[in-house]
Amino acid sequence: MRHLLSAADLDQTQITEILDLAEEMSLVQGRPVKKLPALRGRTVVNLFFEDSTRTRSSFEIAGKWLSADVINISGKGSSVSKGESLRDTVLTVAAMGVDALVIRHHASGAPWQASRWIDAHVLNAGDGTHEHPTQALLDAFTIRRHLRSSTPDLMRFDGKTVAIVGDITHSRVARSNVLLLATLGAQVILVAPPTLLPAGIDSWPVLVCTDFDEVLPQADIVMMLRVQRERMSGGYFPTPREYTISYGLTRPRLEMMKPGAAICHPGPMNRGLEISADAADAANSLILEQVAAGVSVRMSVLYELLGGAE
Ligand code: CP
Repeated sequence: MRHLLSAADLDQTQITEILDLAEEMSLVQGRPVKKLPALRGRTVVNLFFEDSTRTRSSFEIAGKWLSADVINISGKGSSVSKGESLRDTVLTVAAMGVDALVIRHHASGAPWQASRWIDAHVLNAGDGTHEHPTQALLDAFTIRRHLRSSTPDLMRFDGKTVAIVGDITHSRVARSNVLLLATLGAQVILVAPPTLLPAGIDSWPVLVCTDFDEVLPQADIVMMLRVQRERMSGGYFPTPREYTISYGLTRPRLEMMKPGAAICHPGPMNRGLEISADAADAANSLILEQVAAGVSVRMSVLYELLGGAE
């Protein structure tokens, strides 16, 4: 694997390899000295043109725990704010001799473009409304761990239903999860108001439903999505209150979940809009497990790209 640009780049064998290695990497999290020498002498640049808490910090921690040198560059505070183009910024960073470029950009396809301009490995940390492949990998890692609590050797998600609920139109997390979960055999049901379902969804390998209460009792995993108000220009729903009534994971809806089902959310959450505090903090919420998995999975991915025979 040279770059990680899309969840579609990964077949089942590659996903399993990344998740299995992430299990080993997760052992580092419990050690007093969190350091492996695997990427000593390698340089990773996190180039973030959009805000991030989880992705940027977990890529940074992952790189540092593997002994790579990690440099963070954000749009604000760099020469991007003086008008430097994406291409010139990427070429400038690459000219310094970096081994991997982790890039988040508001334009869909920006990491793909970057991978054409430079020799370094490129990892997509979220591009516009397109994809967020390491989020889908960490979600799969978290879901696999949850399912393995009742089925220890589980490898694929056949027979399991994942409901992805909310703002599908603007969600790169949903797109990457649909691709990855389909590869692992899960049945994915997308749940949203018609205004938040993208054009062309008929060709996706999913079922689509606009009634959350119909889907909720069937789902083994309920993945709530953030309502991305910063990407919305018009009225996608009448009021936040009405959105919550129809599509929020409210306290009464917790009672409707299938026994043993678990809650995911990629974060950041709009508590009180798409997810209630009761749901976010419930015993069956995996949200903080997802955050922890972010470090292990990104260690695994960085190792896969940078730590091999090369
Ligand atoms: N899930 C996610 O990408 O979170 P951040 O925007 O905080 O990185």
